[in-house]
Amino acid sequence: MKKTIFSGIQPSGRLNVGNYIGAISQWVEMQKEYDCIFSVVDYHAITVKQDPEELRKRIIEVTKIYLAAGIDPKKSIIFQQSAVPAHTELAWIFNCYGAYIADLNKMTQFKDKAGKDREAVSVGLYDYPVLMAADILMYDTDIVPVGEDQKQHVELARDIARRFNNEFGNIFKVPEAVVRQEGARIMSLLEPTKKMSKSDANQNNCVGLLDDIEIAKKKIMRAVTDTEANIAYDPIKRPGISNLLTIYSVISNKPISDLVKDYQGKGYGDFKKDLAEVVAKFLSDFQKKYNSFSDQEVMVILESGRKKVEKMANGKMEKVRRAIGVR
Ligand code: TYM
Repeated sequence: MKKTIFSGIQPSGRLNVGNYIGAISQWVEMQKEYDCIFSVVDYHAITVKQDPEELRKRIIEVTKIYLAAGIDPKKSIIFQQSAVPAHTELAWIFNCYGAYIADLNKMTQFKDKAGKDREAVSVGLYDYPVLMAADILMYDTDIVPVGEDQKQHVELARDIARRFNNEFGNIFKVPEAVVRQEGARIMSLLEPTKKMSKSDANQNNCVGLLDDIEIAKKKIMRAVTDTEANIAYDPIKRPGISNLLTIYSVISNKPISDLVKDYQGKGYGDFKKDLAEVVAKFLSDFQKKYNSFSDQEVMVILESGRKKVEKMANGKMEKVRRAIGVR
């Protein structure tokens, strides 16, 4: 039997090269070998306030980004999370069986996102990893390809699956997170000790997949490096240049060690100019594909995905409902 892959992205901001490198580029490779399900997780996006019109647009936008990156709807299932209400139902059941306050209190992403105002954020933001566990466990997922920041949430999904199975029998498969060796955590351009994030208020920290090409080039040219003279890879001591080397390496498909050799004796100026060109070429090809899909096509793809996963989800939910005694 082929392994099942599940992953998703929130339509909560402008997707950037971090999302592409950490998540989507892995998916494109995996669909060659596995049964893949990719979701546009809109009910995760509303854990922070969203403008309804913007959200509607972003759902289409994220789907087009999956398609432009090379996710093939003939091979993989693409669907919108909110179109399958079983996800929120299962999240509720996990809230009662499997997830504990102590687990959620440990989640570093919640601590980061809630900041100092922990009492004033939505209950949804706090509970978000439980909905993510429901997404993953619904489909007997084997592998969850994500960036480094989501590993802790996948760990929780594993704990929930084990606890539920202990109590009610073998209902859920215990999944595994897979992160890239390099590029699991792409850093911000201006503050390379923090993660590149689509919700960053300063979009100069990110190269957006739909950025204007000239603006994207300027962002690369302005990226923070350090005061050393040479091009070298050392993410701890030299996070800025190491981050740029990682982006360069993934996008151009060249090992970092080769790039370091190529730039021996050259300075940051030359390096950044070349990287800006590599990024520009990547974005312009990507955006050409992105623009080739109509909204109408996207709606048809999402609807066909919904039909496929709904059957699987309903089958799983009947087992779960019976196990806990509501049927
Ligand atoms: P989200 O929408 O924040 O991010 C989508 C994916 O992009 C990865 N990522 C990064 N990778 C490398 N460097 C970065 N700077 C970077 N920023 C983001 C994320 O790790 C993620 O893989 N909760 C999830 C969405 C989700 C999900 C799921 C994922 C909901 N249900 C089930 C997998 C399985 C999230 O908010 O990702």
